[in-house]
Amino acid sequence: MDVLVCIGSSCHVRGSYEIMNNLKAMITEKDLDSQVQVKVAFCLGYCKAGVTIKVDEQLVTGVTKENLTEVFDEYVLKKVD
Ligand code: FES
Repeated sequence: MDVLVCIGSSCHVRGSYEIMNNLKAMITEKDLDSQVQVKVAFCLGYCKAGVTIKVDEQLVTGVTKENLTEVFDEYVLKKVD
C-alpha cells in the first residue's frame, strides 16, 4: 500500500511534514513498514481542503495531526491484511 502525503505549498503550511513523520511513526509502531510505504506527492488538487493524502487510489482531505489517528485507523489499518 502506498500513502502519498501532499507537500505542495498549501498542504505544507498546514503541517504536512509533521503529518508525514507521524504517519511513518504509526506505521513503524504497528510493524507495517514492509506493507505500507509513505511517499511524498506534489499538489493533489485539493489545496483548500488540505492536508491531502492519497491511500492507494483513495483521496483523503482535511487531514490534521488531531484527526490523524482516526484517518490512519480508517484508511490504512482497516485495509492492510
Ligand atoms: S497543495 Fe496539497 S492538495 Fe494542493
